[in-house]
Amino acid sequence: MAQQATVLRLEPGKDFVVTPLIKSICRRCLAYLKAGYPVHLSGPAGTGKTTLAMHLAGVIGRPVMIIYGDEEFGSSDLLGNDKGIVSKRLVDNFVHSVVKTEENVSNVWVDQRLTTACKNGYTLVYDEFSRSRAEANNVLLSALEERLLVLPESRYGESYINIHSEFRAIFTSNPDEYAGVYTPQSALLDRMITINLGCYDAQTEAAITSAKSGMPEKESNKIVELVRHIRENQDISFDPTIRASIMIADIVNKQEVKVKTDDRVFIETCLDVICKGSDTSGQVKKAIENIIG
Ligand SMILES: Nc1ncnc2c1ncn2[C@@H]1O[C@H](COP(=O)(O)OP(=O)(O)OP(=O)(O)O)[C@@H](O)[C@H]1O
Ligand SMILES: [Mg+2]
Repeated sequence: MAQQATVLRLEPGKDFVVTPLIKSICRRCLAYLKAGYPVHLSGPAGTGKTTLAMHLAGVIGRPVMIIYGDEEFGSSDLLGNDKGIVSKRLVDNFVHSVVKTEENVSNVWVDQRLTTACKNGYTLVYDEFSRSRAEANNVLLSALEERLLVLPESRYGESYINIHSEFRAIFTSNPDEYAGVYTPQSALLDRMITINLGCYDAQTEAAITSAKSGMPEKESNKIVELVRHIRENQDISFDPTIRASIMIADIVNKQEVKVKTDDRVFIETCLDVICKGSDTSGQVKKAIENIIG
């Protein structure tokens, strides 16, 4: 039997950290969304795009449909399609000597997430939308501009639906991936308001790291300073994200480990999390000595 798409009810996250920077980004995004414009959060890995999109959807307060971009998608994965057939049989035995049977076979259309969200006025979170091919995302063009969702003829003969006035859309994407994936069409980008999320400031990263790991800010500040230093170091070719800070702080906090260079377990944890198996432990060790002391 075909599955209906799952609808989520999100509350504004209790562990969502709000700093002056995040507050100002949220204020802008919510103003655009309330005015009816789709918002696109763009930024490198680990800059808080998905977390922010979910938080905004929670604040809007409508049911939420989430789609994760996928290169295998076709437009039917967004809109819906025929997922089987239903057969109805009518047996008429009113006159005992005569049995009349009638059989009707029809297709069963199942709405996918975009159609469900448009029809019912839900908030659509389309995470990493640029991972889907432009042809799959084409259906969004008229949805975002004319507020009309064009459907294949097979859907009960309806060729389009008017989009509910409370339908809102939040997109995320990572521009670093465009080279390897599909460049979002300029026509689609032209219909959204794009907010570029760079890495958060040190204060915001420290507040998030402390909140997520339970480590006091005084110590988590040092870990964030270390990770940011390595991220900004031109000689090291990879950029550890806030996830590295959260992981180190969390692991250290769960053990009897000090944020000190003379604690062997602390150094090992930093190297394992930050170096990702690469041959940069010498440079990272030096940074730990300089920053952590
Ligand atoms: N405002 C916030 N409050 C609490 N935690 C946050 C906040 N922003 C980001 N985080 C945490 O930082 C980490 C990275 O955030 P997130 O997954 O949203 O980034 P992303 O930009 O979507 O990354 P990716 O591109 O890899 O999907 C997660 O562990 C997330 O919980
Ligand atoms: Mg994400």
